[in-house]
Formats: sequence, structure tokens, C-alpha cells
Amino acid sequence: MQDKILVLDFGSQYNFLICRRIRDQHVFAELKSYAGVTAEQIKAEGYKGIIFSGGPNSVYAEGAPKCDPEILKLGIPVLGLCYGHQLISFYNGGVVAPANSGSEFGRVDVKTDPESPLMKDIPADWHCFMSHTDAVMQLPEGFKKIASTAMTENAGIANDEKKIYGLQFHIEVAHTEYGNQILHNFVFNICGCKESWFIDDYCKQSIESIRAKVGDGKVLLALSGGVDSPVCAALLAEAIGNQLTCVFVDHGMMRKNEPQEVEDAFKNWDINFKHIKAEDRFLARLKGVTDPEAKRKAIGEEFIRVFEEVGKEIGSVDYLAQGTIYPDVVESGAGGNSVTIKSHHNVGGLPDYVDFKEIIEPLRMLFKDEVRALGKELGLPDYLVRRQPFPGPGLGIRVIGEVTKEKLDILRDADAIFREEVDKAELEQPANQYFAVLTNTYSVGVIGDFRTYAATIALRSVTTDDFMTADWTHLPYEVLAAAGSRIPNEVKGVARVVYDITSKPPATVEWE
Ligand code: XMP
Repeated sequence: MQDKILVLDFGSQYNFLICRRIRDQHVFAELKSYAGVTAEQIKAEGYKGIIFSGGPNSVYAEGAPKCDPEILKLGIPVLGLCYGHQLISFYNGGVVAPANSGSEFGRVDVKTDPESPLMKDIPADWHCFMSHTDAVMQLPEGFKKIASTAMTENAGIANDEKKIYGLQFHIEVAHTEYGNQILHNFVFNICGCKESWFIDDYCKQSIESIRAKVGDGKVLLALSGGVDSPVCAALLAEAIGNQLTCVFVDHGMMRKNEPQEVEDAFKNWDINFKHIKAEDRFLARLKGVTDPEAKRKAIGEEFIRVFEEVGKEIGSVDYLAQGTIYPDVVESGAGGNSVTIKSHHNVGGLPDYVDFKEIIEPLRMLFKDEVRALGKELGLPDYLVRRQPFPGPGLGIRVIGEVTKEKLDILRDADAIFREEVDKAELEQPANQYFAVLTNTYSVGVIGDFRTYAATIALRSVTTDDFMTADWTHLPYEVLAAAGSRIPNEVKGVARVVYDITSKPPATVEWE
């Protein structure tokens, strides 16, 4: 059986990272809400270790999240982080209270006990990331101190016999120097896990399980401009070949050269590939529509109309495949606890319009990075697996105001230049999504001896882990200078280029 770790979610924004860091060390980790998970279930599932995550609450507050206390008696190693650390103390009779010295936030010096199995191969003095108001003021019985900072005496606690540990700091964030080493110590030395999470194994196993499930049935998949559905398509193609029909609806709002790239990527697979060129009908539907929500709705509805027609042509299928990935599962409430649903992000309604018996979601346990690795393993080209996230309504929500073919062409060219400049730069801060927006602001320019009055392009680049919050990327001036010079010179219809320096919140990533 594959070794696995359970991360119990008590509401921290960092929980995804805990799972990801463990999987990066080749051990499978799952995130589940603390509520409703019982000690018995955990035992039956065979987890080798449990992590209690952080969270915004105080353990004494009314309604504070509390898990089944029996979990701590299972004999399975437990590591609590921040709120999780306080909860362990609380359940074991320690005293948790607002720290005398007030909140502690940011990078702080920490002293740890190198003799502790959790702190193996870590120096006695280093830096960690703290974010807390409460602290463990008195050790629970049977526990000893293994870490402290100037402001927090019991920053780390341990009961080696029971293999229960707590840390006030966040080991999953990059600012905590030895965070990965602590996770390694916990997962391998304390829980006794073996490396058993590899994407090539996953690939082989899921091909087998797709074959076993689908038999000689028919599967339908809608391909989009993102990464997930092409990878899902490649996996299914490898598993069931021409029992798969991929429908790629080109709504005319894809990025430059993208429709062709998608078609090229799949031409060597023996599948039914339907490239529906529907630019005209989408643009006709968008004529005169300027309100962002109305645009999204119009595009979503038109997708459904197209699918109804394609669905009729294909007839009934056994399975509808979807490229749902792990963060989608958690966001939709089936996994963790801390994030909200982004309902507007789904094109919506599709399953009702196709005649199928069951949905299959072969990527549902994977994080984005793992989806990319799987795509590579399956031989998809880099331009597909390294693609940035791309919204379902495409460039339609990056042309402010009415969408026309002419405006889309301007945006496509400007966007391609900006992406090219960012791609070739060496960035200190990663840019996770970067694109151009065609604003509906016109301004005066001068080209040669002529006055122009043309559009303003806004450039947007964000740095983010999860796209729920994002920082604007501090792109090097050289990149901005190159884009600012090339775009008005090379793209007719653009007089001015500006850079968007708003983070999310208060802005969103997309302009509409
Ligand atoms: P926002 O604009 O909400 O975007 O900050 C967060 C992330 O979601 C993407 N996004 C969408 N993806 N359909 C999608 O599939 C949509 O309607 C949609 N709207 C935004 C956006 O590109 C960013 O990565």
C-alpha cells in the first residue's frame, strides 16, 4: 500500500503548501477538513502520519474548530502547526493564551533542539516564519520544549514516546529555512514513510484504472485553453485511444496561434478530434455586449449551444471526462476548509447538455505542478504543459467593452509580444500569469510626423501560489521597457502601454 499523510485543515491559507511540500518529497499527502473526520476513519484509511494545520482561530474561542480528540490516541504520529500546535497542547492539558508579549509576525530567530528527532540535521539557531497571537504558555504533561524564540518560550513541543509534536511556526512557507528538513524528518524518520509518490507510477496506474473502468465504452472530453484538459486528454488518449472524442471549441478568443498548437499536439494520437471553429457565432453573440458579466454569460451560453449540437452529432457516450484537479476538489468543499468557491470560473452547465452515464476525473488527486509533470511524462509539448492558466471566456474578458475581431487581433499581437519578453527574461520573482489587456481608453500618440489616436494596452503580471490572492510581479524595468517599446511600434492600433500595479485583493487577476 502507498504510504500517505493526512493534513487536517483547520482553515489556514497555507494548507495546500503543506500537502505540496510533502508530495515534493515523494510521499502522497491529502488535505481534509477537520470536521467529520473520525479517528476510526483515519485508522481504517491507513495514514502513516497526521498534520494538524494552522488556522485563524483561538482554541478557546466559541465555535473554534476542534477535531475528534481520539485522533491523538491512535498511536499515529501527529505534527501540529500554529493552531494545530495549540490544539495539541489544549487537548493534552497545556495552557494556551494570548502571548504576554503580543503578536509575533514575520521572520524571527528560533533556537531548536538538535537532539529532537524532528530537528535532525538542523542547526541549533536559525530563522523561521511566525504569525500568531496566542501561544502555548504552559507545556502539556508529558511534553518537552524543542524550540523557542525570544518572544515565544514554547515554540516547539514534543512527546517522543507518543510521537506527537507541535510547532508554533509555519514550516511550509519558504521563509522558514529548514521547513522542508523538518517535514522530511517527520514524514520519513518519525512516521516511517517510504518514497512512493512518483508521477510515472501514477501515470501507469491511472492508465490501467481508466482501461479497467471504461472497458470498451465511449468517452467525451471538452478541450480548453488551459493545461488540465489537454493533459487529461493525453492520459485518456494513451489509455483508450479512439474510444475518446475530444471536442475543442475555438471561440475565436484564444491567444495567438493557440488553436493550431492544440490541434498539432494531438494529431499523432489515434483519437477522434473535433476542432469546432465557432468564431463567427461567438462574435455575433457578443455584438453590442459590454457588461463583463453579460459577456461571460453570453460566452458560457454559446458554449452550451455548441455542445448541444456536437452532443447530438456524437450521440450518447458512456463517460464525460473532466480535467478537475485537486485544488478544484478542495475549493468545491469536498476537501479542505479554508477557501471559497469560484462559481463563475466554470463554463457551467455542460454535463446537463451531453448524454452520458458517468463523469470521470482522472486528475482529481493532482496539484497543478503534478498535472504539468504528467503532461510531460505523456509527451505533450512544452508549450502546452507550461501554459499559463487561461480563463474559459478567453480574451473576451481581456477586451474591455464590446468584443470585435479587430480588437481581438490587436490584443493577440500585443499579448504575444509581452509574453515573449517575459519568457526570455530572467526573473527574480516568478511571474505565474502574465498577459495583455485591451482597455477601452484611447489616447494621442505620435508616429513619425503623424498624430495618432489609438488604444491603450495594459500589461498585467501576477505572482501567486493559488490565484486566490496575488501580488503584482515586480518585473525588471528592461522587460517593461522592451514591451512598452515593441507593442506600439509593432501593433497597429496601439498608442500607449501601461503596467498594472494592483495586487489581488483589492483587484482581481483578470480585468473583467
Ligand atoms: P480572478 O480574475 O478571479 O482570476 O482573480 C483568478 C484566476 O482564475 C482565472 N479565471 C478564470 N478561469 N474561467 C476560468 O476558467 C473564468 O471565467 C475565469 N475568470 C478568471 C484567472 O485567469 C486567474 O488565473
